[in-house]
Amino acid sequence: MENVTVVDHPLVQHKLTIMRNKETSTASFRRLLREISHLLCYEITRDLELEDIDIETPIQPMKSPKLKGKKLVFASILRAGNGLLEGMLDLVPSARVSHIGLYRDPESLEAIEYYFKAPTDVADRLVVVVDPMLATANSAITAVDRIKRRGADNLRFLCLLAAPEGIKAFQKAHPDVPIFTAAIDEQLNEKGYIVPGLGDAGDRMYGTR
Ligand code: URA
Repeated sequence: MENVTVVDHPLVQHKLTIMRNKETSTASFRRLLREISHLLCYEITRDLELEDIDIETPIQPMKSPKLKGKKLVFASILRAGNGLLEGMLDLVPSARVSHIGLYRDPESLEAIEYYFKAPTDVADRLVVVVDPMLATANSAITAVDRIKRRGADNLRFLCLLAAPEGIKAFQKAHPDVPIFTAAIDEQLNEKGYIVPGLGDAGDRMYGTR
């Protein structure tokens, strides 16, 4: 699939299987999400540009590579996005953070915004929008619309599971935004859940229903 990267790494797939299992506890689910987000973050940042800087080791001066350009922005779609965000920040602690609060209207499945905060200067930064589940893609599309309106023009979308329907809708709305995911599942059910999926990611993370 064009513009979609499936992070097909044995550790990612192993952890994902445990997360899918309904017997997995809330504590384990949260820990695994954080661990998996390290591996996904590693992959989504693989091609970041570097520049050599001058430093001195205790032994001698040298030129050594450092990330080039402005700090990244991680944009979390509340609330489940925060599970991925935590792990991303473990690896890139200097990243700026945006929060986008959206809830899904249970009837129409439309994404309704209730909160938005982002750095003012997103224009020159790579923005990684994170949400574990790319289901109908309504939330993802709305979140990317919103952050583009703030000025972002270099974006990537990171999730854990994607449905083919979600990928199609997202790519139609935002063909310029590459998708990174740990797996592509079979389909959506009539309630907009990913099948076989892992259930409601927010509820699994926080022990709610
Ligand atoms: N959101 C979830 O948390 N799970 C799904 O399966 C779909 C959307």
